[in-house]
Amino acid sequence: MPRKIYIIGNWKMNTTLSEAMVLAGGILRRTEKFHHLNIVLAPPSIWLVPIKEQHKRAKLCAQNIYSTLKGAYTGEVSAIMLKGIAHYAIIGHSERRSTFGEDNMLVNAKVKTALRENITPIIAVGEEKKLDLEGLTDSGVTQRVLHSELIEQLKSSTMGLSGSDWENVIVAYEPVWAIGTGRNASGAYAARIIKELRDIIGQKLSGADIAKSVPILYGGSVSRHNAAEYAGQAEIDGVLVGGASLQVGEFSQIVEAFAGADKWRK
Ligand code: PGA
Repeated sequence: MPRKIYIIGNWKMNTTLSEAMVLAGGILRRTEKFHHLNIVLAPPSIWLVPIKEQHKRAKLCAQNIYSTLKGAYTGEVSAIMLKGIAHYAIIGHSERRSTFGEDNMLVNAKVKTALRENITPIIAVGEEKKLDLEGLTDSGVTQRVLHSELIEQLKSSTMGLSGSDWENVIVAYEPVWAIGTGRNASGAYAARIIKELRDIIGQKLSGADIAKSVPILYGGSVSRHNAAEYAGQAEIDGVLVGGASLQVGEFSQIVEAFAGADKWRK
């Protein structure tokens, strides 16, 4: 079975209420015909409810959750608060790691909490500096990736997950150097790294069969100009889009790039 394709718009800390409603409505209307793609919106958490009320069938995602379900955690959002509103949560985004000091242990605790509460975690991992893969042999590439921080992030963020947990996980490969910089990773580079991540998941974390079904997305300066590059790579199961998800036309064109490419993938 081919893996599902996900196009996720991470709005980060942007939009007023009225902007959020216009953006969500515009994207959902323009992309509603693409039933075979999972189009998921991750607005600021305060806008999840009004968007859900207006668009019952919208697939929504929280940008973060906390690892504990309730209590004295000022400013945090709990997985139980998302019930019936958002089915997904981005966990371990590099901005959470760098600006808010989240480490792999906390990311791991959040991932487990999400899974227990039937929220699909979108686990973000990514290297700080671009890996130099030029001129390396196949096994040279494998070694370079194995020794990068990517593998440590992936392993410790998913420590203790069972096979059935893995069936409900999405991984987002988001190189830090590509996020918000306009310096996107090429389709070939992203696909190569994603292949290595899938191999590690298969060999060390979940088992080969399950690894084949885990969606692994690319994120980092995805735009309408480069979306087809990722859509054309069979290893890449979709994209996590930041800046370019804030405009109806731009985001819809990214969706369209995947809708077109999806035909030959099956
Ligand atoms: P960007 O952000 O598309 O603006 O680079 C991606 C992300 O942070 O998920």
